[in-house]
Amino acid sequence: MNNIKMFRDSIDEKLKRYLPTVASKHHEEVLEAMKYSFAIGGKRIRPLLMYGAFKMVDGSYEEYHCVEVFMACIEMIHTYSLIHDDLPAMDNDDLRRGKPTCHKVYGEANAVLAGDGLLNYAYELALKETINVGTKDIDRSKKLLEAMSIMASHAGIYGMIGGQAADIKFENKEMTTKNELDYIHKNKTGALIRVSLIIGGILGGGSVKQIEQLKVIGNNIGLSFQIQDDLLDKYSTKEVLGKPIGSDEKNNKKTYVSFVGVEQSKEDVKRLLNESRLQVEGFNGDSTLMLELIDFLETRKY
Ligand code: IPE
Ligand code: IPE
Ligand code: MG
Ligand code: MG
Ligand code: MG
Repeated sequence: MNNIKMFRDSIDEKLKRYLPTVASKHHEEVLEAMKYSFAIGGKRIRPLLMYGAFKMVDGSYEEYHCVEVFMACIEMIHTYSLIHDDLPAMDNDDLRRGKPTCHKVYGEANAVLAGDGLLNYAYELALKETINVGTKDIDRSKKLLEAMSIMASHAGIYGMIGGQAADIKFENKEMTTKNELDYIHKNKTGALIRVSLIIGGILGGGSVKQIEQLKVIGNNIGLSFQIQDDLLDKYSTKEVLGKPIGSDEKNNKKTYVSFVGVEQSKEDVKRLLNESRLQVEGFNGDSTLMLELIDFLETRKY
């Protein structure tokens, strides 16, 4: 567990260096809003999972810089999704990562733009890295392009956005099948988690078979992560969680807790994470970090 904290602290420092720095006086408030939401913390679970997958496929020192860039990109995309998720038009929440939400501090218009700014900057970073590598290393350039394309599809309408859209739609609609709920969870949350593992695998030079396995592991971890988020929304405290509790009930969200009950939700988290452990153990690279992350996720309180 200490190992995770150590990794997180060091990753946190590195990620912050990727934020844009130059401000014109006409956009400095939006830039500040981007930095505010990004730098106030968070578990950094997606970059950690990406790095964990990179190590599982024996990613080399030479390939490390590429994966670090994508670790920053995925955290920027995730942070943008949180800023927008908290807006009055969506979940209308006031607290995030233990601090007032972006729109509470900078206003709604700036929060919309700060989210858009982070999303665009993520792709700008990834593209710059690809151009830098360019023809110097065609094989690595191809991997970077593949990673970018897969990141875009998982962040977009066939991924996170699709899930968020369904999450909103079902606020005012009865849910009849668990497939509908799984669609929401696997997309609104699962997609960015899954793609973190996939990108770690691609950039680390994993085989097609390994990438397929990482996809399955990412799917299980992603679904378990949102089931646990549903449990924490009901049973944690805002002090520990750093965000409001009871937000789901307030918004009439369809959650695992409301659909299958608390006990079944807890069992599902356990089962999904146990399945992930078994799959991770089949890898011949260094799986230590990934296994520690799974242990952390199983017992997380925030
Ligand atoms: C919160 O994600 C939103 C969900 C997808 C459930 P995290 O729980 O990873 O939030 P941070 O990054 O640690 O703040
Ligand atoms: C949102 O799920 C997932 C995102 C894409 C941001 P939630 O709405 O449950 O996330 P929290 O609980 O606000 O972090
Ligand atoms: Mg939401
Ligand atoms: Mg929310
Ligand atoms: Mg939630």
